[in-house]
Amino acid sequence: MSTVRLRALNPAAPSEIERVAQGMQATLIEVEGEAMGRALHSLDWLRQRVQWHLDHACAAVWLAVVDDEVLGHSLVRAEPAGPEETLDTGYWGLITTSYVWPAFRRRGIARQLLLHDEAWMRAQGLSHARTWTGANNGPLIALYERAGYAIVQRAAHTGSGSPMVCLARDLRLA
Ligand SMILES: CC(C)(COP(=O)(O)OP(=O)(O)OC[C@H]1O[C@@H](n2cnc3c(N)ncnc32)[C@H](O)[C@@H]1OP(=O)(O)O)[C@@H](O)C(=O)NCCC(=O)NCCS
Repeated sequence: MSTVRLRALNPAAPSEIERVAQGMQATLIEVEGEAMGRALHSLDWLRQRVQWHLDHACAAVWLAVVDDEVLGHSLVRAEPAGPEETLDTGYWGLITTSYVWPAFRRRGIARQLLLHDEAWMRAQGLSHARTWTGANNGPLIALYERAGYAIVQRAAHTGSGSPMVCLARDLRLA
């Protein structure tokens, strides 16, 4: 396969927004199952979530591409600490979703996207990173644990009730 390149989504390319929204829906289906994955959020809602991340300077949408084919994506944003926060960190870097299309998995693409997300967060002055996923999402948990993250919180998904885990790391550590 040719070299995979990471770049920002082109906001003027509706096909790229569509591809990412489709990937977000595919993520929900993989993690929550076909019926719940489709019921949780419509494709139109997902398109709007992508657009929100494009419209705000505190957020970014990264693509892994070969030529112009999108193989995977991640969405990241700075998130204000909630009242329940136990760490005095101000804003968090939150990776809201990452996805690699099945034909391109186990080639290090998600790992490249994660490193790219972390570089963006550091450039924004964020000291901590986190993501939420299904407690049964072995591949994603393995990816993050290998990158130095640990499970710091557990909660039920507000929409489906499924068990979720929060993986986090201090970005100031190597
Ligand atoms: C999780 C996901 C993003 C991984 O993408 P990927 O590009 O295949 O991952 P990488 O090739 O970068 O893997 C890096 C490391 O993560 C771990 N990992 C990735 N996939 C794994 C799997 N299926 N089983 C076990 N470990 C896995 C391994 O440690 C791997 O390193 P290795 O290949 O040297 O063993 C991909 O499987 C996916 O898109 N899943 C569905 C979407 C999803 O769950 N997104 C997160 C929802 S919040």
